[in-house]
This record gives sequence, C-alpha cells and structure tokens, in this order.
Amino acid sequence: MDSKRLLLLCIIQGLLCSVGYSANLDYYTAGVVEFRQSILGLDAWSENLEAYVEIIHSANASATDIIVFPESTLNALGSTTFVPSPEDGINPCLNGTHYEEFLVTLSCAARNSSKYIVINLTEKQKCEDTPDDPRPCASNGLNIFNTNVVFDRQGVVVSRYRKVHLYAESKNLTYRPELVTFETDFGVTFGQFICFDILFYTPAHQLIVEQGITDFVYPTMWFSQLPFLTAVQIQQGWAYAQNVNLLAAGASRPSVGSTGTGIFHGRQGTLTSVMKHDNGERAIYVAQVPKITRRGRRSLQESRQTAASTNFYMMRDALEIYQTQLLQLDVGTNGSSSGQICQGSFCCNYEVAWRERESPVNAKFYSYRVGVYDGVRQDQNVDANYIRNCGLFACLGPAIEECGLLPEEGVYPQSPVIFTQLVIKVTYPESREFLLIPDTLRDNLMPLEPSQFEWLQEQSSKESYHHEVSFSLAETQELDNLLTFAVYGNYYDNQCTFGVGTEQEQLACGYKGGSSSLRSLGLWLTLMPLILLGLRSR
Ligand SMILES: *[C@@H]1O[C@H](CO)[C@@H](O)[C@H](O)[C@H]1NC(C)=O
Ligand SMILES: *[C@@H]1O[C@H](CO)[C@@H](O)[C@H](O)[C@H]1NC(C)=O
Ligand SMILES: *[C@@H]1O[C@H](CO)[C@@H](O)[C@H](O)[C@H]1NC(C)=O
Ligand SMILES: *[C@@H]1O[C@H](CO)[C@@H](O)[C@H](O)[C@H]1NC(C)=O
Ligand SMILES: *[C@@H]1O[C@H](CO)[C@@H](O)[C@H](O)[C@H]1NC(C)=O
Ligand SMILES: *[C@@H]1O[C@H](CO)[C@@H](O)[C@H](O)[C@H]1NC(C)=O
Repeated sequence: MDSKRLLLLCIIQGLLCSVGYSANLDYYTAGVVEFRQSILGLDAWSENLEAYVEIIHSANASATDIIVFPESTLNALGSTTFVPSPEDGINPCLNGTHYEEFLVTLSCAARNSSKYIVINLTEKQKCEDTPDDPRPCASNGLNIFNTNVVFDRQGVVVSRYRKVHLYAESKNLTYRPELVTFETDFGVTFGQFICFDILFYTPAHQLIVEQGITDFVYPTMWFSQLPFLTAVQIQQGWAYAQNVNLLAAGASRPSVGSTGTGIFHGRQGTLTSVMKHDNGERAIYVAQVPKITRRGRRSLQESRQTAASTNFYMMRDALEIYQTQLLQLDVGTNGSSSGQICQGSFCCNYEVAWRERESPVNAKFYSYRVGVYDGVRQDQNVDANYIRNCGLFACLGPAIEECGLLPEEGVYPQSPVIFTQLVIKVTYPESREFLLIPDTLRDNLMPLEPSQFEWLQEQSSKESYHHEVSFSLAETQELDNLLTFAVYGNYYDNQCTFGVGTEQEQLACGYKGGSSSLRSLGLWLTLMPLILLGLRSR
C-alpha cells in the first residue's frame, strides 16, 4: 500500500490512523520511565498510581506507541492483585470487579491514551489455578509473583511475565520458567524479562536464540555495582552484544543505588539514557526506535552529564578474587604498557598507551588496574552466573581494596594521563550458551558508545572451539575519565564450555578431538592396539 492511500485510509478510519500507519513505518516510538517510587508505606500505591497516570497522559508521552514503567514502583505485598491470563482477553477497565483498583485504572489509562503500557507489580494467584504444579502451596492458598503486565491500546491484558531470577525477594517462582512475548499492531514482537534476569540465559538470551526476538521490554530496579555492573553500562552492553532493541525502565533512588533507564538500539548504541546522580525523578524518556528488520541509522545522543557525586550508593564487586596488576601511569608522562595477565589457564592480553595531561596542582588521580577472573560471580544468596572477565578498571588508590569505589563527596579525581590507546585481546572458549559483552564506563556512569570503540569477535574455524575477541578504543578517541574498559564474558552456568569437565562430558557436548586432552585420548585409542601387540610379541 502506498503512503497516500494509507493516509486516506487513516483519515477515514480516524482513531485507527496512527495504528495502521505505524505498522508501515520503519520505526516505532517508545517511552521508558525513570520513576522514584513513593515510600509512604501501605498507601504508597495510590500516590504512585496517580503519578503513573499523569506520565501516561503527559505531553512528553503523546507520540509514544508503548510506555515501559520500572520494576517494583507501583504496589507492594500489602496490595497484591490477581492478573488475568492473557489467553482470556480480559479488559480490566471494562470488567474490573475481580482486580485491584490500580490494575483497573492503568487498564483505563492505556485505553484512554491508546498506548501499550508495560507495568511491573506484585501478583497473587490462587494455587488451585495451577493444577499441574506438584509443589506444596503456602497456607493461605496463594502464590506471590513478581510480574510484568502488558496492556494493549484498548486496555486488554495481552501479556504477563513472572520473573525467573529473583534477587533475594520473598516471591514464588513459576513451576517452569515462562518464555513470554507479545505482538503489537505496529509490527514488532516484544520479549520480556526483569532486572536480574539480564545476567542469565533463560528467558532473555533464550528468546533470541529460539524465537528470534529483536525487541525487549525490561522493567528494572537495578542496584549498580562497580566496576562491571552499573545499570546503563550493562543495559547498553547487553543490547550491543545481542544486537537487539532494549527498552529499559529503572526505579529511581540513587541514594540506595537504583537508577538507570534508556532505549538502546543494538550495535548502533544509545537512543536515550539517564543515570540520576541526585534524589531521583519521575520522568519519561522518549525515542524513535528503528525496527530491526529495516534497520535505519538515527543520530545517537552524546551524554553531557557530569561526574557522579556521592549521593549514590554504589555496590562493589569482590575484586580481591581477581588476578590484577597495577598500571604504572605517572602524571606528566607519555608512555605505553602491554602484557599478559592470567588466572589459571584463562589469559588476557592488553596494550595501553597514553599522553601527558595538564592538571591543576592539587588534583586527585585515579589509579588503574588490569584484572582477570575465571569463576563464579560472588554475590549474596542469589542465582550465580559463571564469568570470564578481563579489563582495566579505576581505583581511588594503588591498593586493590580501593578499586571499584566512587570518590567521596565533592572529590572529582581524574586519570593521571589521557589514554590514547586501549586494546584487550582474549581467547574465549566456545560454550553452548555464552555472551561476550563490551563493558565500559566513564566517570559520569555512562558507557562508551559504539562509535567510540571497535569490537571484533571471531572464530578462526568452526572446529577451533575458540573465539578471538579484540576490543579497542576507536583510533580517533582519547579518554581522560575512564572507570572501566573490559570484556564481560558471561558463561551463565558454564555447562558445555570447551575444555571444561571430563572427556566424556566434552564428547557429549559435541566437542570432537579439539582439546589436547581429547587428542591424546584419541592417540591412546589408536596406539593401544599397537602397544598391546608390541607387548604380546615380546
Ligand atoms: C514488581 O513490583 C512488585 C511490587 O512493587 C515488587 O514486589 C516486585 O518485586 C516487582 N517485580 C520485579 C521483577 O521487580
Ligand atoms: C469478567 O472477568 C471475569 C473474571 O476474570 C470473567 O470470568 C468473566 O468472563 C469476564 N466477563 C467478561 C464479560 O469479560
Ligand atoms: C479516562 O477517560 C475518562 C473520560 O475522559 C476519564 O473520566 C478518566 O478519568 C480517564 N481515566 C484514566 C485512568 O485515564
Ligand atoms: C511460595 O512461597 C511461599 C512462601 O515462601 C511458600 O510457603 C510456598 O511453598 C511457595 N509455593 C511454591 C509453589 O513454591
Ligand atoms: C518532559 O520533557 C522535558 C524536556 O525534555 C523535561 O524537562 C521534563 O522533565 C519532561 N517531563 C516528564 C514528566 O517526563
Ligand atoms: C608527549 O608527546 C607529545 C606529542 O605527542 C609531545 O609534544 C610532548 O612533549 C611529550 N611529552 C613528554 C613528557 O614526553
């Protein structure tokens, strides 16, 4: 259909205009909400709800097809609601008797504004509604889930996703993890996952591998951690590594460590993003998102934020278990350094070059370490993921204990030099499920954009079972405010990683004769009859 006839059709059909039209555009318009939740206690939900509705009807949101709200910023355990099954096509706005007021109101707001709305809430479900679940039910007969709910433009509940990887939350898990997607009238099918899920294979990565999903809605209440896992850093890195669109909406309370919202367009980078450094906010960030099938180029934002202040509660990775070494960088020098650093058999090569910078006399400076780690990520009692990380990160002083920290209030350290070259080269073993992520951060808590780096991931041959990664600063770039420049190698559960486990396990994973141990096994099997023959003939 040509665009003139489409436009005519639009005029005739009135309301449906924007609908039919955006299905034929090569982009859709999305809004992601950075939201400071009320901490009023039991009645918090009504204040949150009012602010949600205001944002949905705000002028900033007027062009959006879909709005994503963050995790855990609506209701809480004191005001759980039932959520209809998407298969039943129920519209709480028109048939609300069974549901809490806020679910009904948001259904009506979706309907009134004619937008897709994604919210996260605390859901209750009667155990009797899951007859195939053999596990014992709680004494009150209810399951409690951390759930995303999607309303379509009429207010109908079209999708429901229950979080798989809970982060120390007293919620239930579904008997089996659910892989959840929903289609839209603008021609895009979205996958869903929540917060901590981003570090795991199921469901996020699995939806890409098994269903070819290219766009995701991602409500989150992320607690940033230095140097590898601050919010926008990992959102952008994940969207880049997977080359998908990611609509991430973050809860906004930097004083407890949560903020981080953005829209990311795969290998093209950030369309809009924010990390708040103050008390948090309630704001919607809007971007036109190119559809992946007809990929267009759009101008990317350059963030103009200043260095992070200390109103930010920052978690810290257990860097003491990394193998690290200090880079010798002296103020007023030009120079370069290169080398290899290994932990066990996992090695990382680096090349760094810098030039002198002019600094005020009393300036504070970062130190830098190169570190490598091969093992399970250390965290509290939550699902663990296996990582192989390598890179450069900033420290407030020469000791490892001073790495991964934000400076004190009012202190703004600089790097002692200006980096002119950063290169990391790593040989990564193949695995059945793994994701290698370019993982960068500047002192404003924003990552480098794809135009500022070069990323190569190659396999010399299908049989080699190795991936050569070369990650470098783009030639035109110089950096003086670097916190992290690393490769985050997420191996999830490390099952079926080449070179790991017994020979039988390796063969079962489909690796044939690649490793030296397997080769020597092959050699033994070949030689054994000859040896036995030789023994007999003696
Ligand atoms: C969704 O929101 C509810 C209520 O605020 C919260 O209890 C739950 O943890 C949230 N879900 C996720 C995945 O954060
Ligand atoms: C209204 O919702 C109830 C409960 O979910 C459902 O049983 C009923 O069929 C719905 N009625 C209509 C008209 O959709
Ligand atoms: C929806 O629109 C009606 C009529 O304009 C209005 O009374 C109602 O408050 C709106 N509700 C929401 C949740 O936007
Ligand atoms: C859900 O959680 C409650 C409270 O932790 C627990 O008693 C109940 O057994 C759980 N239900 C299932 C099906 O795991
Ligand atoms: C609307 O957009 C303006 C300009 O970008 C911004 O200053 C304002 O905070 C936004 N309001 C909301 C509610 O997001
Ligand atoms: C560093 O290199 C620049 C040119 O790249 C040169 O102008 C400057 O004098 C050098 N500084 C030192 C301390 O060698």
